[in-house]
Amino acid sequence: MSQRVLTTESGAPVADNQNSATAGVGGPLLLQDQRLLEKLARFNRERIPVGAPPTPLRQWGRVVHARGSGAYGHFEVTDDVTEFTYTDFLSTVGRRTEVFVRFSTVADSLGGADAVRDPRGFAVKFYTEEGNYDLVGNNAPVFFIKDPIKFPDFIHSQKRDPPPRLKGAAGPPSGRQEPDNVWDFWAHSPEATHQVTWLMGDRGIPASYRHMNGYGSHTYQWTNSRGEAFFVKYHFKTNQGIRCLSAEQAAETVGRDANSHQTDLLQAIERGVRPSWTLYVQLMPTAEAGGYRFNPFDLTKVWPHQDYPLRRVGRLVLDRNPDNVFAEVEQAAFSPNNFVPGIGPSPDKMLQGRLFAYADAHRYRLGVNHTLLAVNAPRATTAQNYGRDGLMASNPQGRYAKNYEPNSYDGPVETGRPLAAPLAVNGHTGTHEAPPHTKDDDFFQAGELFRLMSAEEKSRLVANIAGGLSQVSRDDVIEKNLAHFHAADPEYGRRVEEAVRALRED
Ligand code: HEM
Repeated sequence: MSQRVLTTESGAPVADNQNSATAGVGGPLLLQDQRLLEKLARFNRERIPVGAPPTPLRQWGRVVHARGSGAYGHFEVTDDVTEFTYTDFLSTVGRRTEVFVRFSTVADSLGGADAVRDPRGFAVKFYTEEGNYDLVGNNAPVFFIKDPIKFPDFIHSQKRDPPPRLKGAAGPPSGRQEPDNVWDFWAHSPEATHQVTWLMGDRGIPASYRHMNGYGSHTYQWTNSRGEAFFVKYHFKTNQGIRCLSAEQAAETVGRDANSHQTDLLQAIERGVRPSWTLYVQLMPTAEAGGYRFNPFDLTKVWPHQDYPLRRVGRLVLDRNPDNVFAEVEQAAFSPNNFVPGIGPSPDKMLQGRLFAYADAHRYRLGVNHTLLAVNAPRATTAQNYGRDGLMASNPQGRYAKNYEPNSYDGPVETGRPLAAPLAVNGHTGTHEAPPHTKDDDFFQAGELFRLMSAEEKSRLVANIAGGLSQVSRDDVIEKNLAHFHAADPEYGRRVEEAVRALRED
């Protein structure tokens, strides 16, 4: 086979490396998409323990979001949303549910620093009476890509490569530099322009975890007691106010305390400050999705608030630090596929890919019994099923009860009640582009974000982009990136282009 043909691990040609296979155009992903599963599963296993052979007690950091800080607290319902979801923990105003939250940076390994330009993870585990519900979001409402098959490539392009090389420093003797990878990926991914604009703007470096918002980012689905479904997006708005650091302030902060975000969160909670966020949702009746002007399941786009206004749901409060950071923060396992009745997935392809990726990562990183660890186990209910044994099994696991179902011995049985409304599926299986909508282009929301910025914010955004892009060694990669900023907004494109040219002539 020609050297230029991309293949699977077993050597078979890959027909499409940009789109995952879906059930019809716009439908959910398919288990038969072995290329996707292989790619995500291999990516999950890229980290191995340094200097030690794998042992039964192997445990190591997350492949992404390795640096993080966690805290416990509660979520309290403040507004009635029973018209939209029958989920139990949201069913009564005043109801409180215990939570564990982990904040994180994305790209760097455990030895990195907190005050860097990077999205932040914002993962919430609700210990509900119907099982744990994990909302594994970020501090940005959008993401760089819209198909999970691109995720391993995306992360490879943004991380240190290969590991011994310093991030952002000169590369191996070939002269390649890390900015080449970062911007080459974006040159080939016009859909990233919106999130790149967000990341290079002020919000790209939050002052602390307390001073940033959290977003579910994806579209999820709520189902009410009449079986009616709504697509939903989650927004946690910080009650501490948004605070960000300039590139200069961030460099100074990192020099002073590489763990600045962790220190801030830990000390604030120790002082008795109870950081809080107000949860809002945007709700779209499912019938409106097909006719909306852009694909509502496209993770690179926000739903404008004029179309789908924010509706308050409740308040998230953090008030307790973990006792053992390794046991409770390092070993915490959040998975977007941990749903509770009344809440389910949308056909957002990225979300669909994540439904597989996280639990698979946990089985490798922490082992099959990671759900028995105190931080991951249900607290307001118990797990009752026929799973048995495996590495680190430490619970009675049913004692002498039968280990198969169905059985004649009064073991746990299914409810027969659907957990969420079904998703419509049409057409054939395949690696389809998203269904066409009237305004699906990759640039208009990046342009809108640019135009929303103050004059000072625009100047900082342009300087941040030019600082990185001007270090790229290939002119064609620079030109492709510039074309994206021009497409977003003529002033945006012109100013980035001028700034890049000025820096390259220096
Ligand atoms: C962590 C995969 C997109 C938020 C992780 C981990 C993996 C992963 C493998 C490490 C899990 C672990 O070891 O515990 C993916 C894939 C994605 C994707 C395949 C796209 C297809 C996203 C998006 C968001 C996000 C869009 C936010 C909206 C997070 C967070 C964590 C995380 C917050 C850290 C969770 C924690 O604190 O333990 N991701 N990710 N990821 N991801 Fe993603």
